[in-house]
Amino acid sequence: MIEKSAETRLIAIASGKGGVGKTWLAITLAQALSRMGRRVLLFDGDLGLANVDVQLGLLAAHDLGAVIAGRVTLAQAVERHADGGFDVVAGQSGSGALSTLEPGELDRALVGLRRASSAYDCVLMDLGAGVESGVRRMAAAAGLLIVVATEEPTSLTDAYAVLKLHKADRPDGKACVVVNQATTQTAGERTYATLRQACVTFLRREPALAGVIRRDDRVRDAIRRQTPLLTRHPTCAAAADVEALAAWLADAGAA
Ligand SMILES: Nc1ncnc2c1ncn2[C@@H]1O[C@H](COP(=O)(O)OP(=O)(O)OP(=O)(O)O)[C@@H](O)[C@H]1O
Ligand SMILES: [Mg+2]
Repeated sequence: MIEKSAETRLIAIASGKGGVGKTWLAITLAQALSRMGRRVLLFDGDLGLANVDVQLGLLAAHDLGAVIAGRVTLAQAVERHADGGFDVVAGQSGSGALSTLEPGELDRALVGLRRASSAYDCVLMDLGAGVESGVRRMAAAAGLLIVVATEEPTSLTDAYAVLKLHKADRPDGKACVVVNQATTQTAGERTYATLRQACVTFLRREPALAGVIRRDDRVRDAIRRQTPLLTRHPTCAAAADVEALAAWLADAGAA
């Protein structure tokens, strides 16, 4: 097996538009990859409204704020989520302090993340909504960017904007698309085809379709109970779709 570099271990999850399911997907993907035997670190990179810990019901002793303030190292801020089978670095929710980070402070945290990543097969970074500079820096630092879109037109235009900015920030960067909350597999593929066409025409780039995740009421139930989906509803449609996405990433050599 080829030894991975620190960068290629980092997978960022972005969308532009808020509320499409990035955080839920990052958590469920972390769980699916861990069930495939991968050592996974889930990093809450939402600098504005971090909530990986909330969706997991995790009471983290330290968070990214403490790392940035220099009180602990990134490795010391890692918490184990035993049920999910992966490690977590929680974000700092509510204070808003991290949303005004200096680029240098964020870059130092990313250096720490790269260093910590050597203990893992892959590091998933859940990014915030929007396309502000922190989101762009983290997306550009990753070896692979997963752009999450839904069937809503506003989500598609925002996903396109993320891909366009990523091309400007990282002309050699790799990106792929996940359609979430799809009404059917076919509808999800149609949504991807629209986005792909815009990328081919205007960006001369063709991000692959990494997966379609169907809309599934079990997702909301699992989040409400602060339990990872594959624990609570292991055989539901969305669970099968995330497992297929994890297998796609493994086949692509990304995880
Ligand atoms: N496949 C799905 N099926 C049904 N509901 C879903 C699915 N994916 C996400 N959701 C719903 O979308 C909501 C938002 O999810 P989540 O918080 O993960 O989005 P987000 O993109 O991280 O939001 P933000 O941009 O605010 O960080 C969830 O609470 C859940 O109810
Ligand atoms: Mg989120």
